[in-house]
Amino acid sequence: MFDTEANKNTVFAKFQKLAERVDTLRVSGRTPFGMRFDEMLSQTRARVGNAEVLLAGTNNYLGLTYNPDVMDAAKQAIDTYGTATTGSRLANGTYSLHLDLEEDLKEYFGAASAIVCTTGYQANLAALSTLAGRGDHLLIDADSHACIYDACRLSDAETIRFRHNSPEDLDKRLTRLPAEGARLVVIEGLYSMLGDVAPVAEFVEVAHAHGAMIFVDEAHSIGCYGENGRGVSQAQGVLDKVDFISGTFSKSFASIGGFCVSRHEALELIRLVSRPYLFTASGSPANMAAARASLKIIAADTSLRKELWDRVYQLHTGLSDAGFTISSPPGPIMAISRPDEHVAVAEWNQLMDQGVYVNLAVPPATPQAKSLLRLSVSAAHTEADMNQIIAAFRTLPKTA
Ligand SMILES: Cc1ncc(COP(=O)(O)O)c(C=O)c1O
Repeated sequence: MFDTEANKNTVFAKFQKLAERVDTLRVSGRTPFGMRFDEMLSQTRARVGNAEVLLAGTNNYLGLTYNPDVMDAAKQAIDTYGTATTGSRLANGTYSLHLDLEEDLKEYFGAASAIVCTTGYQANLAALSTLAGRGDHLLIDADSHACIYDACRLSDAETIRFRHNSPEDLDKRLTRLPAEGARLVVIEGLYSMLGDVAPVAEFVEVAHAHGAMIFVDEAHSIGCYGENGRGVSQAQGVLDKVDFISGTFSKSFASIGGFCVSRHEALELIRLVSRPYLFTASGSPANMAAARASLKIIAADTSLRKELWDRVYQLHTGLSDAGFTISSPPGPIMAISRPDEHVAVAEWNQLMDQGVYVNLAVPPATPQAKSLLRLSVSAAHTEADMNQIIAAFRTLPKTA
């Protein structure tokens, strides 16, 4: 597929090895990267070619993508505001929808400020790269999402990585820092690949003991954890102590967009200087309206969380009983490590043959260079869906 001669001395030359790797991973005519779904049949089913597949890798944790209230809100927003804002938040891209959503987020989190960005990726970029400046220190968990790493690259602060989920290692590193400059600790509530939860309460204690602020990315945990779905910080009783929380509308909120909220009103100031907030078009009316409608449901409807967790326990038990080692205790994200990426791809195809779609995750996108079959659970899954997934996994060899 890669024409070495034609690409010699061009910008594409460096991609030769990557192209070769992708070729070796393409089996049975399917490509696991950027899978094509021809039609969405529901929150949990899609048509791929002529086959119907059960979706077990979507991040649609509460199954709100086909919720009638959320869909109506998006449709009405298009009727009222059109399809796009065509401008940045600072210019012509702030509609009442964006401001209302920020007010709703403030109320939901009990925050002093809330900033809505165009994606979750940009929310982390916008907040972290601007809050931590020259002379400051950004201390990030080693397993941080790519957008946290990218935010560090964009920031003028010095970045220090600490061992994944280790408040002890953070403590050591903070102790060694010079007194000058501000310190911002960055963790995630629920890690997106292995599905492990951070000891947020312990991190808060360590960070504050060293005069550092703490920033928790709750992209995967909002809607799923905490009595009102406010995430792991709420579940661990430290929501009011966390300095910044970021999140995305692309998962439980069934939309696109992202946000950062803070108990510090001064967060508002970054609107005037943050490049990933300023120099991009604002979220579309349909996306903002869908996110608002979902937030209302997430805050009020505890039944969805209950359904999600019922399915989580069913799947976790079923896969464990089938002989698989799951990366973490029960949670909406479950990963099963495979011996290498070729085995993972072959098994991913075998699951597809049986009508089950999971995520294939391979290095460099995974911690410790693992090759993973990653599953995510939705409140919209049924008991029968979970049984289908377990039955499909039972046909795989038990190599891990
Ligand atoms: C932990 C984490 N933060 C942020 C994001 C970015 O969210 P978005 O999809 O809205 O850009 C993701 C997306 O997968 C994520 O996993």
